Amino acid sequence: MAKILILYDSQTGNTEKMAEAVAEGARTVPNIEVEIKYYAHPEELAQADALIFGSPTYYHDMTLPIKEMLEEAAKADIELKGKVGAAFGSYGWSGEAPELILEILKNRFGMQIAELKAMALYEPSKDKLDECRKLGKLVAEKIAK
Ligand SMILES: Cc1cc2nc3c(=O)[nH]c(=O)nc-3n(C[C@H](O)[C@H](O)[C@H](O)COP(=O)(O)O)c2cc1C
Repeated sequence: MAKILILYDSQTGNTEKMAEAVAEGARTVPNIEVEIKYYAHPEELAQADALIFGSPTYYHDMTLPIKEMLEEAAKADIELKGKVGAAFGSYGWSGEAPELILEILKNRFGMQIAELKAMALYEPSKDKLDECRKLGKLVAEKIAK
């Protein structure tokens, strides 16, 4: 069964709500295993067919746990080429984190980036949560066998 790993960080719960909605959307597609958590070892990343990273923007950047996870995978030379990658996150004014993540997934790891990116200004509205569900569903459909 194809697997999606949703990895996220959230200091005040906004990105967490988005992560849960992304998972909900992914679970609407049959025969897809969806796992959602804060951290995965590099080898676990390699075992998934799609990786969706969620990070709020703090100090114009992704948060440290997410950055470290990507760095660990890079240092371990984990092979993610061709897997599907996506990103989402809550922000307050500039919101760089998802784009920075996508840049690494694409240019460092050679992943295939989902055309949708979900961003919410502070607490995600109902519409933004729907967008997150759409993102989860889109990624699941891409890897559905
Ligand atoms: C210390 C601090 C720094 C922040 N820096 C940024 C920033 O550089 N750009 C931005 O868009 N939002 C910034 N924010 C706003 C957060 O991204 C926003 O509150 C977001 O909803 C937090 O998501 P979370 O609940 O998932 O942690 C900052 C917030 C705090 C408290």
